[in-house]
Amino acid sequence: MRDSRETFVNHAFVTGYPVKHSRSPLIHGYWLKQLGLPGRYRAHAVPPEEFPDFIVSLKNGTSGFTGGNVTIPHKELAFTLADRPDALSAELGASNTLWLEDGLVHATNTDGYGFTANLDERASGWDQCRTAVILGAGGASRAVIQAVRDRGVNTIHVVNRTAARAQELADRFGAAVHAQPMEALSEVMKDAGLFINTTSLGMDGTAVPEIDFTTMAPRSIVTDIVYVPLKTPILAQAQTQGRATVDGLGMLLHQAAPGFEKWFGRRPIVDEALRQIIIDDMASHT
Ligand code: ATR
Repeated sequence: MRDSRETFVNHAFVTGYPVKHSRSPLIHGYWLKQLGLPGRYRAHAVPPEEFPDFIVSLKNGTSGFTGGNVTIPHKELAFTLADRPDALSAELGASNTLWLEDGLVHATNTDGYGFTANLDERASGWDQCRTAVILGAGGASRAVIQAVRDRGVNTIHVVNRTAARAQELADRFGAAVHAQPMEALSEVMKDAGLFINTTSLGMDGTAVPEIDFTTMAPRSIVTDIVYVPLKTPILAQAQTQGRATVDGLGMLLHQAAPGFEKWFGRRPIVDEALRQIIIDDMASHT
């Protein structure tokens, strides 16, 4: 896309349906300003039935975009329609970041990177743990399972209300991953070094089960990928029981960085000022 001075300006999107609540424009807008780059980034709602045409317009240049982020409900279709999905996306069956290269749509998934970068920043050494417990087996848990496995944690228990969904993920992600029913939670928590909530438990006002975090290994960490509110009911329980916790906001911020670098050519930094912008935005919408 060209601006009024006829200089080339990279223009990136976040697409979903709906997408107006996305905080990605705030994140990328902050980095563009901080780095003094001429790019643009905006939310672009695309209904599911129009998504294939949107990918065609991205590829043939008529959309005016050079790439962007993909969120719910388009992540699976983005993977399917991309010309060059990478191996991370292929194993997940979903992509959240697209970019054009030599006329082809490339795709990756940065959710797992965002998850581990957040823990690296706030709980350095977390990957020394031998056992992790992941609560939930929905779309959001997949990238987390993949990332924790790829960092070398050799026992990963996926605990889920619907046992068949956990089993499907154990089959998909290999021998390190074990499917567990809810009833097994207190057993697998014993000596675990990392607990991750990937469910929406407590977000809709429903009761959150009491979880015993006291049996976890010394110096274990409890984290939640939900970041609204920052202190989720599960993090609050863990803190009350004396556990170190990491909130999910950093995952959102860090997952954005690789895409920004692809579209705008500079690797941005996740800093406290950016975190505060999102916290302020969350406060203004409550
Ligand atoms: P997402 O893509 O955000 O992960 P999802 O695919 O709907 O959303 O998955 C939501 C996860 O939260 C699932 O693991 C779900 O358990 P089921 O697979 O049994 O549905 C879990 N979840 C949601 N509400 C729950 C509740 N009240 N109790 C236990 N688990 C719950």
